[in-house]
Amino acid sequence: MRAVDIINSSFKKNCTLCPRLASHLQTQRLIYPEYFNLPVPAFGDPDAGLLIVGLAPGHHGANATGRPFTGDHAGILLYKTLFELGLCTKTESISADDNLRLLGCRITNAVKCLPPKNRPTTEEIRTCNPYLRHEISLLRSNGVIFALGGIAHAAVLRAYKAKLSEYKFIHGHVHSLPDSRVLVDSYHCSRYNTNTGRLTPSMLKSALELAQSLTTQNL
Ligand code: URA
Repeated sequence: MRAVDIINSSFKKNCTLCPRLASHLQTQRLIYPEYFNLPVPAFGDPDAGLLIVGLAPGHHGANATGRPFTGDHAGILLYKTLFELGLCTKTESISADDNLRLLGCRITNAVKCLPPKNRPTTEEIRTCNPYLRHEISLLRSNGVIFALGGIAHAAVLRAYKAKLSEYKFIHGHVHSLPDSRVLVDSYHCSRYNTNTGRLTPSMLKSALELAQSLTTQNL
């Protein structure tokens, strides 16, 4: 199967469509044999009302544990905030078998495999996009997509074949998507953004609270 043949494809745990990412994972299997080192699947109820989209698995986080935003700095604030809003059952996500449950939401990434230096190429984002498109298709028809960062924002629009120029990334902004769903933007909860104060805990909480309120309004 070639990338161009897939329009809307469900997640494949052994996907090797991106040669650079497949080779990087192969190397990681030798260096960190105890790590997950595979495409990281979405986590949570497939037909949840809220889909949170990150960038890509972190090296020693999702790539190690097999659950998005789990095991590294980026997930600490995210799961704490989700817990405070009643969207998950624990304050911390430690491992894929820690019994944490998401409540009414699902978390995925724009790119499912660990990219070198945390930076997927445009081609890799494009190749992985059918998986995101499929995840969006499972989201409730009036659901809410929460994009963590500009790359996630652009990947969601790509999944919709919508023009990026018509949807400017603005933290806390609500965009109406071409169907009945909406997109809410947030700065990514990366170490860099939280250390520099670009994203504070209260900014993330307000943006997620907004997304949550739109989810329930749309019921
Ligand atoms: N971990 C993820 O799963 N996604 C990110 O975007 C960052 C860390």
